[in-house]
Amino acid sequence: MKGLILAGGTGSRLRPLTYTGAKQLLPVGNRPILFYAVDDMVRAGVTDIGVVVGETAPLIEAALGDGTQFECHFTYIPQEAPLGLAHAVKISQLFLGTDPFLMVLGDNLLRGGVAPLVQRFQQQHPAAAVLLTQIEDPRQFGVAVVEAGRVVRLVEKPEHPPSNLALVGAYCFDARIHEAVSSLRPSGRGELEITDAIQWLVDHNEPVDAAEVTGWWKDTGRPEDVLDANRLILDDLKSQNDGSVDADSQLTGRVAVATGAIIEHSTIRGPATIGEGAVIIDSYIGPYTSIGPRVHLRSVEIELSVVLPDSRLENIGERIDQSLIGQGVDVRGRQGRPKTVRLVLGDHSRIEI
Ligand code: G1P
Repeated sequence: MKGLILAGGTGSRLRPLTYTGAKQLLPVGNRPILFYAVDDMVRAGVTDIGVVVGETAPLIEAALGDGTQFECHFTYIPQEAPLGLAHAVKISQLFLGTDPFLMVLGDNLLRGGVAPLVQRFQQQHPAAAVLLTQIEDPRQFGVAVVEAGRVVRLVEKPEHPPSNLALVGAYCFDARIHEAVSSLRPSGRGELEITDAIQWLVDHNEPVDAAEVTGWWKDTGRPEDVLDANRLILDDLKSQNDGSVDADSQLTGRVAVATGAIIEHSTIRGPATIGEGAVIIDSYIGPYTSIGPRVHLRSVEIELSVVLPDSRLENIGERIDQSLIGQGVDVRGRQGRPKTVRLVLGDHSRIEI
């Protein structure tokens, strides 16, 4: 069985971070979101993996490499524009051949992994198997109607959802999907929808199985989703201390301190992770916070936040809460009068003062 990971798209809802980075590479628990999807695939026994890439191809390729670090092999497949999930399948036909394959979205996280879906597909041999989860309001997703374990109807982003079972973006297919994809016309949003391709299979009496997510699922399209994903990942964090923590510092709960990190006169309440070479002085780091490699914090209180590598925060009067801070950012508190705020912010930055 082959794998297909979709790692294109523009990530417009994550601007400004996605002007210079790929949304799939935003870190949660100090690891790119995309790495968890790769781990899931490899754990499900899928090691020959195609990665569909868009504008951010150089960044994705630099981060993933040839696959050696994940014990798999990557083939990069360029997509000239984000024209839909079924379009991604279409342009991957040469790589996929007639093999069955597992397709996942590179910006989605699944706590229970994809192994249960793959197992079901390999035991039952349907034309497709999809992973679903109950959602109160699934209007932003593909929605499926299931009868006795079989999908009988699917709709993409329906105004009036026929069920509350959302497609979570993990699919198994056999070669029958290629005929379905080649018969598609672009949807209202101008994309070739995989949901429509699966409906085509249903319409042609091809069996489509459904499995439900075990654990949680998180689509990381917006900043608040990235913070949520970070929280969910840190719930499984194990304590580790490879850095140097002075006697004036206190670490409580599960805290992972990476090699070369220095912590002085600070309090860290886990779950929290501190990246390689980070320097934390006179600071408080609260639960559910990931501090990236080489970040410097001095006289800062921060919690429920993610700070990307090489940023520097100093003398901040207020506690930083639920914040997503990019790479190489510099934030400094100023003493004295007048009490003003000076800002140099990139396009689409968001700040609450
Ligand atoms: C895509 C699929 C949709 C699915 C969702 C999961 O939506 O089209 O069926 O529910 O992924 O994240 P998109 O992210 O393109 O809006």
